[in-house]
Amino acid sequence: MSALTTFSSLSSSQTGLIEPADRALFSDVNVRPFCYRHRLALELPLTLPDIAALNDRLPDGDAFKGWQNGVTQIEDGWRTRPSERLTLADTIAGIETNHSLVVLKHIEQDSVVGPALRNLLQEIFDYSSSRFRKDVVLGECLVFLNSPGRKTAYHFDLEASFLLQIAGTKTVHAWPCGDPQVVAESEVEAYCGAGNLSAAVYKPDLQKLAQTYLLEPGDGVHFPSLGPHWVQNGDTVSISINVNYDLRSLHGSLRPILALNHRLEKLGLRPRRPGASLLSDKAKATAWTVARNAKTLARRVIARRRNGEGYPVWMPEHRIG
Ligand SMILES: [Fe+2]
Repeated sequence: MSALTTFSSLSSSQTGLIEPADRALFSDVNVRPFCYRHRLALELPLTLPDIAALNDRLPDGDAFKGWQNGVTQIEDGWRTRPSERLTLADTIAGIETNHSLVVLKHIEQDSVVGPALRNLLQEIFDYSSSRFRKDVVLGECLVFLNSPGRKTAYHFDLEASFLLQIAGTKTVHAWPCGDPQVVAESEVEAYCGAGNLSAAVYKPDLQKLAQTYLLEPGDGVHFPSLGPHWVQNGDTVSISINVNYDLRSLHGSLRPILALNHRLEKLGLRPRRPGASLLSDKAKATAWTVARNAKTLARRVIARRRNGEGYPVWMPEHRIG
């Protein structure tokens, strides 16, 4: 399917960024991966100079910018450094040939691209099931810039995410969430408990269980929380937007419980697993959140001293109906 075919197949008089015929698919958010069509690439036809300008407007620091240089494999972790580290500006300028990945975060707050992305965050939220909407705490948009042919290693995320292709192509391999043969409990515990963001273990013999999607500009795919995926970029530079939602059930409950369990196990204790006791789960989630909030507050004070003020966060508008 060419980009032109994709765009011409979109409803010409549509309002909103998601193709009307595909909006019903969003009732399956966080149940299974699915693909859909969108017109974000028409609304925000981002180019390399746009990404360079966006990088200049964003604050510096790991909270806003990440990049990885060199060829990566499916099994590699996020901290893999396959080649000498370039500066971010040089990575963006030479993306066609330097085999790199660039991630710019919190771009829904940007003065130029932010308005369309905040509409997108609210639109996807509105189409999603009421169960999902009740679970959403906040949302964020990122832009991914990839060199031709580069792989994004196998991983899962705690966030429910939506990838929207703007330029170039990608082949995406996505597995459903909740299958213990695909993602073992120990992998989730390592991710949430020990904070190992590369805890997902690629299992080649389970590749056949993946859904495979070819994304062209105007196509999108949904990755459920904890649903693993890996990506093969096409033969030109790829630009895509990623929409993430943090969830009460995972960010506010499962993760704090597993994080506290991890600490208790390091002290030689044998804490109850999540789900074994509702009372114990609630107490752990509260204890960990209180401890984390104290730490986060301290960090925010330091960040304010360094950057002048805190950064805004997108939260959903709960509409009736
Ligand atoms: Fe991901």
